[in-house]
Amino acid sequence: MATFPFEIKAREGAARTGVLKTARGDIRTPAFMPVGTAGTVKALYMDQVKQAGADIILGNTYHLMLRPGAERVKRLGGLHAFSGWSGPMLTDSGGFQVWSLSQLRKMDKDGVTFRSHIDGSEHRLTPARSIEIQADLLGADISMQLDECTDFPCSHEEALRSLELSLDWGGKSLGAFGQREGQTLFGIIQGSNFEDLRERSAKGVVSQGFGGIALGGLAVGEGHDQMCRTIDMTVPHLPDDKPRYVMGVGKPIDLVESVARGIDMFDCVLPTRAGRHGQAWTWDGPINLKNAQFAEDTSPIDAAVDCPASQDYSRAYLHHLIKAGEYLAPMILSWHNTAFFQALMAEIRLAISENRFEALRAHLSHRWAATKS
Ligand code: GUN
Repeated sequence: MATFPFEIKAREGAARTGVLKTARGDIRTPAFMPVGTAGTVKALYMDQVKQAGADIILGNTYHLMLRPGAERVKRLGGLHAFSGWSGPMLTDSGGFQVWSLSQLRKMDKDGVTFRSHIDGSEHRLTPARSIEIQADLLGADISMQLDECTDFPCSHEEALRSLELSLDWGGKSLGAFGQREGQTLFGIIQGSNFEDLRERSAKGVVSQGFGGIALGGLAVGEGHDQMCRTIDMTVPHLPDDKPRYVMGVGKPIDLVESVARGIDMFDCVLPTRAGRHGQAWTWDGPINLKNAQFAEDTSPIDAAVDCPASQDYSRAYLHHLIKAGEYLAPMILSWHNTAFFQALMAEIRLAISENRFEALRAHLSHRWAATKS
């Protein structure tokens, strides 16, 4: 398995900052990946995503295989050329989205058959088909193994059955991936919130020899404290020299606390989804600009974020745009939120390199305490 060079440049406690070097460019870690589900980071131009500071974005097998179809994306030059994003791209394998979005899914030991949430048509994903879609057709720089995500909460028995299936699919994914220049594959740890199962899954995934290791089955309703506990019980079983990625996380305080536990990569729809709902995340916490208190607030969204969306428009103007149902509201707010999340990651990286991450963590933990629930 080709692995990308991962250079850790500084550490503070379990937190680390470094660079993951891909053929399409460097990823500064800890990194937050904006989610570009359908080949677009919703409501943003790719230039804005790049200027906001993102080194890598995420794409989704599930959505793109259904529409416009992975073979079509391939004919159109692959996902980078098709979408206009020339930097590194990670794609999720589809398992999680089948679990959360599709209708009438049927699992068997070889894969999952499901009906599209768009038109009800029937599709099938196997470990090998997911690799074909991600690595061959979309052209992902980092592919993810097909896995199964359990409901939360779930029984020990169910979590064990599921993690064994994911381990088996991990081996099949590696077999289908083979040796590829300039592309790599990450494995995914499952095991719900059971310590013995997280350990079992982690040891199994680590021994399979992926280019990076993801923690799955989080951000499924377990809450901040349980998420932290699950990361705590998993990280001791991971090698130091591979990137660690917590999937689907999270709120700013989740990012800070995960970095403190040794995590290097994240993705979440929060910046853009919140932006479509009138919510802006700021250094002072989240605000909803739909609220009447902002109707005559002439201050910008957050003057401390170095982005035109954050500085050039008043909160009163955003309030008006939201009330009027204008397209510009989600555009400005998604842009600001994306820039804020990148600014947070940049500050985290700088703080680790200057040995003041614990001070930053204490400060933000206090300031954002209300967002932990
Ligand atoms: N995104 C968020 N959580 C998960 C997970 O457990 N598995 C996959 N494949 N994607 C995710």
